[in-house]
Amino acid sequence: MAETIDILISEDEVEKRVRELAEKISADYEGREVCLVGILKGACFFMCDLAKRISVPVTIDFMQASSYGGATESSGTVRIKKDVDDSIENKDVIIVEDIVDSGRTLAFLGDFLRSKGASSIRYCTLLDKPERRVVSLHVDYVGFKIPNKFVVGYGMDYDQKYRNLPYIGVVHLDNGK
Ligand code: IMP
Ligand code: MG
Repeated sequence: MAETIDILISEDEVEKRVRELAEKISADYEGREVCLVGILKGACFFMCDLAKRISVPVTIDFMQASSYGGATESSGTVRIKKDVDDSIENKDVIIVEDIVDSGRTLAFLGDFLRSKGASSIRYCTLLDKPERRVVSLHVDYVGFKIPNKFVVGYGMDYDQKYRNLPYIGVVHLDNGK
């Protein structure tokens, strides 16, 4: 089945908002060092752009997680496919995500990194779909709140495609009509 993509957030809007988030983080972490932990693969474009614009010292690391749904979404549990490479003990960590949906991934990874001795954990996401939340989670830095639509681009995929689009788009499935 083919699909078409409509632009939801333009490249310029994304760039502007990433700068604003970086400025806010730089101000909040003034005088400290921040460890950004990006969640692969979706967050990698966002995290690189964000890191470049943060003015306090930054270290970076990556994790990868997969969400296992049983039959239903609500039974989904999160599994770690890739752990951080370096110790995060006593570090001020910001977990960087592309999009928060149910909230399960971020909540799980936050608890996990806290148990590994991070001195603080905050959450930063480019996109948030608040309507979809099933676990309670305070996200400290949110780029854009979006409606419950499936989006791609700027790191996010549909069937591993479209991650390289410089904007955020909504996927429409063409059903041959
Ligand atoms: P959560 O654990 O339900 O919050 O799932 C978040 C993850 O689901 C994100 O990191 C994405 O990988 C994926 N996801 C959720 N919504 C979308 C979307 O609209 N487009 C692409 N990936 C999505
Ligand atoms: Mg993801």
